[in-house]
Amino acid sequence: MLNRFDLVREELVRNPKHWLITGVAGFVGSNLLEALLKLNQHVVGLDNFMTGYRHNLDEVRELVTSEQWARFRFIEGDVRSFDDCAAAVDGVDYVLHQAALGSVPRSVHDPLTTHDVNNSGFLRMMVAARDARVKSFTYAASSSTYGDHPDLPKVEEKIGRPLSPYAVTKLCNELYADVFSRTYGFDSVGLRYFNVFGQRQDPNGAYAAVIPLWTAALIRGDDVYINGDGETSRDFCFVDNAVKANILAATAEPSAKNQVYNVAVGDRTTLNDLYKALQQALATQGVFSDRAPKYREFRIGDVRHSQASVEKAERLLGYTQRIAILEGLLKTMPWYVQSLRHSNRQLARLGQA
Ligand SMILES: NC(=O)c1ccc[n+]([C@@H]2O[C@H](COP(=O)([O-])OP(=O)(O)OC[C@H]3O[C@@H](n4cnc5c(N)ncnc54)[C@H](O)[C@@H]3O)[C@@H](O)[C@H]2O)c1
Repeated sequence: MLNRFDLVREELVRNPKHWLITGVAGFVGSNLLEALLKLNQHVVGLDNFMTGYRHNLDEVRELVTSEQWARFRFIEGDVRSFDDCAAAVDGVDYVLHQAALGSVPRSVHDPLTTHDVNNSGFLRMMVAARDARVKSFTYAASSSTYGDHPDLPKVEEKIGRPLSPYAVTKLCNELYADVFSRTYGFDSVGLRYFNVFGQRQDPNGAYAAVIPLWTAALIRGDDVYINGDGETSRDFCFVDNAVKANILAATAEPSAKNQVYNVAVGDRTTLNDLYKALQQALATQGVFSDRAPKYREFRIGDVRHSQASVEKAERLLGYTQRIAILEGLLKTMPWYVQSLRHSNRQLARLGQA
């Protein structure tokens, strides 16, 4: 029997829509772009390349047909500019708002910029989308909203106090979304992502997420550092699951709107186990490492354990048949091995020049 996602995809191919992806040059955004173009959708993308890359867009171009690529229009712009938001949302059916500054430590170092992009940018995008009367507005919320609430698994209704400026911004997005529903009748859906990973997630820079950071270190033969004792756990979610959740949310029934949903697998993996799983997944790509990780201090603002209940997303959105962490890692590793070898060759060439 076809599940809801299969039915939605069939309907989209039959009757293509116009989508806006903000943060399209980033990790999740570029994966959304690839999936939507492969479904022959029309896509506008907005990005200012603050943490995203042109090469992510170039890569998607290689993965779709020239007809599909012709349905994509890119706007280099900033969600902090109302004019950019209004231009991007013009004629759009479904908005997928991904643009934000991720990373808890970044927000601890620079709360002002995180606030401007994640809150002011969010509000501008929402007002522009409301004015343009889009059919739906789906935004990237975050598991960081659970803050210091001790319960596991995390259920949408029970949140604690935020533990970082980043978490405050993501909670604030949810509050605005709820107020927009009650004040203007403008409904949206928030997707609380739990540690999304996959191809095109940036392995470089001070704020890289744990999976790309460790993967790059293992491929380069560098040391891997674990913050704390390694028993910290997360619900790691392969990016295809997040893509699926976005498409399901954008096309959801009105009764499923004005809600937030956990987007995860519903599982929990410790950092110690993640390290071993990465070593094994890389070994399938011919990258072998038996080096032990190094342990250092716990990091400020980090939640100790995180695991989602995905029952609500299953029930109201049809978010079923999720890809588990090990399968996701096996799908992800070829990309890192290929792209890091490619950038090493480029560095070597630059060194010779
Ligand atoms: N990756 C995760 O595990 C995770 C977890 C929870 C929530 N999220 C949220 O998901 C969304 C996507 O995250 P990601 O991992 O793809 O991050 P990313 O950094 O790869 O992508 C974010 C994109 O937004 C763009 N951007 C930033 N500021 C902008 C601005 N002012 N105007 C226009 N574009 C701007 C960046 O250039 C980048 O391309 C973010 O909202 C993030 O907070 C991600």
